[in-house]
Amino acid sequence: MPRLPGQNPISRRRAIQSLGGVVLGAGLGYAGAAAFADAGKGAKQAYPQAPAMPADARPQHISLTAKQYLRQLAAAPAAPTEILDYTDGPTILRVKQGAWLEATLTNQLHEHTTIHWHGIRVPNAMDGVPYLTQPPVMPGESFAYRFQPPDTGTFFFHPHCNTVEQLGHGLAGILIVEGDETRPHDHDLVCAYRDWRIDGAGKYQPMMTDAGASKAGTFGDHRTINDQLQPVFKVPSGGDIRVRFLNLDMSRIVDLGVIGADAWVIATDGNGLPPQKLKSWRLGPAMRADLTLRMPDAAGTRIQLVNYYAPQPIVMAELEAEGAPLAKPAFVPAPLKRGVIPEPRLEGAETFQLRLSASSTPAELPPDLVMPDGSVLRYADALCLTPKTFWALNGQPWPSQSHEVLPPPLVTFQQGKTYIIEIINQTPHIHPVHLHGHTFKVLSSNKGDVVPHFADTTLVAPKERVKIALVADSPGDWMIHCHIIEHQETGMMGIYRVA
Ligand code: C2O
Ligand code: CU
Repeated sequence: MPRLPGQNPISRRRAIQSLGGVVLGAGLGYAGAAAFADAGKGAKQAYPQAPAMPADARPQHISLTAKQYLRQLAAAPAAPTEILDYTDGPTILRVKQGAWLEATLTNQLHEHTTIHWHGIRVPNAMDGVPYLTQPPVMPGESFAYRFQPPDTGTFFFHPHCNTVEQLGHGLAGILIVEGDETRPHDHDLVCAYRDWRIDGAGKYQPMMTDAGASKAGTFGDHRTINDQLQPVFKVPSGGDIRVRFLNLDMSRIVDLGVIGADAWVIATDGNGLPPQKLKSWRLGPAMRADLTLRMPDAAGTRIQLVNYYAPQPIVMAELEAEGAPLAKPAFVPAPLKRGVIPEPRLEGAETFQLRLSASSTPAELPPDLVMPDGSVLRYADALCLTPKTFWALNGQPWPSQSHEVLPPPLVTFQQGKTYIIEIINQTPHIHPVHLHGHTFKVLSSNKGDVVPHFADTTLVAPKERVKIALVADSPGDWMIHCHIIEHQETGMMGIYRVA
């Protein structure tokens, strides 16, 4: 099996790596291990069951092997960097709305993993949160995710355990669900942004630092689009281009802009909204924006995708007009088709307040478990936690209690009802808050104008209060967390229940 890449192998995970196959994978042969397995589910209920795929479903089969690949990230003569991915990627899947998908994850890492389908309203059993919605997929094992993507748009998927290391080394894929255009584009371009914690020689620096995790996050300086530094994409002269921009970074904020052409935002997190003329559009980690624009007619002309969230705008990628211009009528941005996400019924809806705060309370973990071979299983390793806690949701850092490893839900929503969640940021840092399981509508902010839009992740600035609403229509225990992954893994994570 290949080693995890980098100078800093995943050291805090070693206990579970060495024990994984023996204990968790091998029939839980003794009482301590069984207790541990139960502890992982807290209330001891079984994992949720996915609705069965009908025999005549004819799913689209996709095979995803989480392992090490080599990719040229740093400029030559630097050697290629050992990264993690699901294919010899970048991994970009295109599927059809409502059609069955069977994506088989094979784990060729040295530690357990799962796939979370970010922003896709999958049944709870397919949500990919180890110990909560499914058992972890151990090294050498496979797990088939079967579902019908209900919504069109630009999505992505990633592991949900030790995410700082796994995603930090590149493990993520893009999922495009097609079928939302009212007028076809001449070119559809995926632009996945992220930085890498590598130096000029392509070698990794530590993914996480205390200074970063307790503040705005730890940043890399090697900023890429689709794993390339400032790529130039050739697109048709005078053509209508759809740019699907994804912020897949673990901590960076992007103020997306276009220089050299007019552009409109037509979707947020995959969900269509009336075209908004782009000045700059702020995207936190995990957020996406789809743009529509018309390229200039003159072949060779370039336009730039820039990030204004920097002292000087940073050019992330360029689009270059190529070929004889497509003769087209004057450009009017076309909206996408209306989505099928239930509209919140705000009248009489209950409000749940979610406070984001710092935490000085170290998370209390159960004592370490001594295994039959004398080795020690640390709960922090097994449950995807760092031993440090800097953050909390409603005063509870994850995990909040010692007698149950999974904390109780922060709130229980009644299935079918609309809820308003008021997210209150009591910290001096900005946080992209993500809900699993439900796409919500961003309604308003105390800081000013919000164009109401559907999203799965929303940024909340210091002292800001953002109101979102959702129809709690999908039962299960779902994660809610900050998508600055270091914040997520140092406490800013919880569960909400729909029952
Ligand atoms: Cu992309 Cu739990 O998140
Ligand atoms: Cu955060």
